[in-house]
Amino acid sequence: MAFKDNFKEFKSLWVNSGILLRQVDAEGDFDEFEAIWSDSDAFKYYEGYRSKPNAEQIRIILSNEIKGFQKANSYCWTISNSTTNKAMGRIHFNSFENNNTSANIGFFLGREHWGKGIMSMCISPVVEFGFNTLKLERIYTTVEPNNIGSWKALEKNGFLREGLLRHCFVLPDGLHDCYIYSRLYTD
Ligand SMILES: CC(C)(COP(=O)(O)OP(=O)(O)OC[C@H]1O[C@@H](n2cnc3c(N)ncnc32)[C@H](O)[C@@H]1OP(=O)(O)O)[C@@H](O)C(=O)NCCC(=O)NCCS
Repeated sequence: MAFKDNFKEFKSLWVNSGILLRQVDAEGDFDEFEAIWSDSDAFKYYEGYRSKPNAEQIRIILSNEIKGFQKANSYCWTISNSTTNKAMGRIHFNSFENNNTSANIGFFLGREHWGKGIMSMCISPVVEFGFNTLKLERIYTTVEPNNIGSWKALEKNGFLREGLLRHCFVLPDGLHDCYIYSRLYTD
């Protein structure tokens, strides 16, 4: 199957009976993402987050996630409560490179869902989908060293720390070093 064929039909992934990774619903997920992104302090180690986005910017972000899938540039799941369908956070692949054998993984949860093992559980089916369906060879991401919950969730999913990249993150308070983590299909 050609890489682009994976983007004809969106694949939802079950994490467990209570959590479903499903496609972004730009209208239906608006309120939850507005609440999640209004918590600026929760994103202090998240590269790309500058300040609380306004309603117009949130609409653009959500619709770009859908367009990214349609163009085979990204694969973005809303982490949802399977009973209420409410969004809890997001997990995605983007930056498909090296003949679509390599992808960046990124994720976040609303603060009320932290510390319950949820992201450690969500990473697992996404990585499996990346290797077995998208046929990736390498999945990687960068993490600010103080973002312990993030790199621990990666390590619990078999990601290896490759090193420290100096001054690679631009955060609101300036440049930060970051760890780079990866997992290979062959690991
Ligand atoms: C990073 C984030 C996704 C972690 O999700 P989570 O569901 O809370 O993580 P988990 O509960 O699966 O925790 C994973 C491990 O990290 C530990 N942990 C979680 N938060 C921690 C913290 N603040 N300090 C120390 N350890 C922490 C957990 O105890 C667990 O380890 P254990 O199994 O040995 O007990 C979440 O905090 C978040 O969304 N943060 C804001 C956005 C962000 O920074 N995203 C990542 C960018 S790289």
